[in-house]
Amino acid sequence: MSGRMVAVHYIESGAGTPLVLLHAFPVDARMWNPLRGRLEEQARVITPDQRGLGESSLDGSTARGMLEAPVGKLPVDRPSVDVAAADILELLDQLELPRVVLGGCSMGGYVATAVLRAAPQRVAGLLLVDTKAPADTDEQRANRLSVATRAEEEGISGWLADSMLPNLLSASTRERRPEVVEELRALIEAQPADGVAWAQRAMAARPDSFVALRAFGGPAMVVVGAEDSITPPSAAREMVDALPRGELVELAGSGHLPSMESPEALADAVLPWLAGIEV
Ligand code: MLT
Repeated sequence: MSGRMVAVHYIESGAGTPLVLLHAFPVDARMWNPLRGRLEEQARVITPDQRGLGESSLDGSTARGMLEAPVGKLPVDRPSVDVAAADILELLDQLELPRVVLGGCSMGGYVATAVLRAAPQRVAGLLLVDTKAPADTDEQRANRLSVATRAEEEGISGWLADSMLPNLLSASTRERRPEVVEELRALIEAQPADGVAWAQRAMAARPDSFVALRAFGGPAMVVVGAEDSITPPSAAREMVDALPRGELVELAGSGHLPSMESPEALADAVLPWLAGIEV
């Protein structure tokens, strides 16, 4: 344990059911902004930046931005989704939220299932968006470690967005909605290289999460973009099959990031589900 302080930056808005949404890689909490206006109708929406990304620091220096919560004394030298999950649990403690509806997109889903492993009693409902349950293959792990090394050696300017954009968005989003492509590129370019490297190493080390999903008795919604090539509909169906109370929603025309590509359709699916959850 290095004992350095980590500051988690988060954006909060709305009132109602506490809903914590964890972002994908390699972006930050702002990926939820297009969805936020609709969710605020019935939820207190809390969107943290994962440590090292967005405005959350990796090394304990002060986070910038609107609302900040310095949390825990956690090691910054052990990249792990369990450490990212501990950050979220400490943030919930600070906000005095014993139970929340927890959601995550892709990497955010890996962290959400790590929260589920650590503290299932704090999760009143689970929303998994374009994510998957298996651990990485050796090849995927090796690729992540080489991306982490390159980020540390060269920074991330240009190459990270160039290599990821074609897979993050559906073909229809890329062809017809240049403003979404540019917004996503800017979000990726804004990420600190050391946070990108930390996140890749954390994901490389993550375990399989099927056991945690099978054990979760609460309501669970699994959403997937029909054109997601990173975590495709087949991966979503595997999670629904594992979740005792899982339901599947497939969004036509969306790729890996429906909060940016299809926010209205995503809100239409999530809001009625959320309304049925007792926190
Ligand atoms: C993400 O969107 O968070 C990443 O693509 C997830 C991953 O690399 O497995």
